[in-house]
Amino acid sequence: MRVLITGGAGFIGSNLMWTLLTGDYQVGVIDDYSTGHFENMHPAAWSRTLDITGPDLAAAVAEFAPDAVVHLAAQTSVPVSVADPVRDRLVNVEGTRAVARAAAAAGARRMLSASSAAVYGEPEMVPLVETALKRPENPYGRSKLEAESVLAEELRGTATDFASLRFANVFGPRQDAQGEGGVVAIFASRMQAKETPTLYGTGAQTRDFIYVGDVVSAIMSALDAPQALALEGPDGPAYNVSTGTELTIDELASALRLITHYFGGIEKRPAREGDIERSALDPAKAQVAFGWQARAPFETALGRTVGWFAR
Ligand SMILES: NC(=O)c1ccc[n+]([C@@H]2O[C@H](COP(=O)([O-])OP(=O)(O)OC[C@H]3O[C@@H](n4cnc5c(N)ncnc54)[C@H](O)[C@@H]3O)[C@@H](O)[C@H]2O)c1
Repeated sequence: MRVLITGGAGFIGSNLMWTLLTGDYQVGVIDDYSTGHFENMHPAAWSRTLDITGPDLAAAVAEFAPDAVVHLAAQTSVPVSVADPVRDRLVNVEGTRAVARAAAAAGARRMLSASSAAVYGEPEMVPLVETALKRPENPYGRSKLEAESVLAEELRGTATDFASLRFANVFGPRQDAQGEGGVVAIFASRMQAKETPTLYGTGAQTRDFIYVGDVVSAIMSALDAPQALALEGPDGPAYNVSTGTELTIDELASALRLITHYFGGIEKRPAREGDIERSALDPAKAQVAFGWQARAPFETALGRTVGWFAR
């Protein structure tokens, strides 16, 4: 199968690329390297350096002629989305539209597009099912939600089946610990270096942490699903990719302390605006639709992540 990954030089995309290339897949990557890294690239991958919102996208997608497109390229930082919502919307909404059009024009059989737990905002229930109320708290969450509608707008009724995969809090090797990276990456790299990590909020807030290896296997299961994934209704094509389990940030910090042998302090600061108190997504729909569930034991996955930051 020929799989084109937009954002393939980034955290999730590069993990997907390296896994696909151990199997019977040809992989193409489109990335502008705005947050991705050349070091993440596999030498056997076809690649083009370009912006998904630019004029060269359709020709590049047609040239690779994918059977499936996994769309991961995005503006992924919440603070950046607050500082520049116009740019955030351009990349996340219009970028998704452009990739969907190019995928359909190139005859791709399926497009999977990365969405996020951020589309829900503060949850009305835990764990959240796909049809739950959507009250995104920031421009990033809003653009991800609009991108889901745009995906359906462009692909409903075409020969390209589609799905939006709502990832929970993903962690693992190759995640950026710089700037606004994930809390696991930041804590793991700071504790590893025996530097004091900063925790925003009380530490009692919860997240649904999912290992990147499980996200890769969710994407591969969705690529292989024999039946259509674009079900009817606004949330029909949406699937949570998550563990369904809540972990507090304090619990995460304790687990990381043991693995990194960090027994120094943790600086606590007030919660940032828009930070939600609880988050967990119910993964049952993905399990029924494409037979996937998260399997990585949490401690082992954390250990592998810390090992990567210790290189
Ligand atoms: N990491 C998480 O916890 C998480 C959670 C929920 C959803 N997601 C979504 O998963 C996807 C991948 O996230 P990630 O954590 O790997 O982020 P990342 O920043 O590591 O990867 C994004 C990649 O897209 C590229 N990119 C950005 N804008 C581009 C553009 N205009 N044209 C071409 N390439 C562009 C970047 O260079 C980078 O390589 C994103 O859509 C993100 O919103 C991630």
